[in-house]
Amino acid sequence: MTTRYRLTSVETVQQDGSWLFTARNGRGEDTEVLLVPCESEAKPPVEAWVNRCTHENQRLYREDIGAVMRDGGVVCPKHGSIFDACSGYCDNGEAADSTLLSVDLEIEDGQVYLIDEDMTYLRDGPADDDDDDDGPQSTSHLQF
Ligand code: FES
Repeated sequence: MTTRYRLTSVETVQQDGSWLFTARNGRGEDTEVLLVPCESEAKPPVEAWVNRCTHENQRLYREDIGAVMRDGGVVCPKHGSIFDACSGYCDNGEAADSTLLSVDLEIEDGQVYLIDEDMTYLRDGPADDDDDDDGPQSTSHLQF
């Protein structure tokens, strides 16, 4: 049987534009997961993606600015590739032709539940690590 954990509401994700939590994956590693609104009527209203760009080890959601959304996609703060919020696929820039790692959710009565068997909920917000890879490196000139 799949256990599920209530994360937040669809309304909160839609209002805030993104929402972050930390889970423990099947290898015992703390993993940040990003919830984003999906505007396709054929898809659930919220999708979940591991908070790492596919190009380099770069967070998409950052504590200082959250996730930058543009044209229905999540913008990588380092090189600007945009990942479709609904499919996780990227067709542009440095991360072109790759897809974010998905995390299984269930939406019921406007609430968002974690149901991924490889992910155990730990806390709202970012992982408690002290690495300094939050920000894009100084070679980035992206402006939001
Ligand atoms: S690190 Fe995300 S596009 Fe390069």
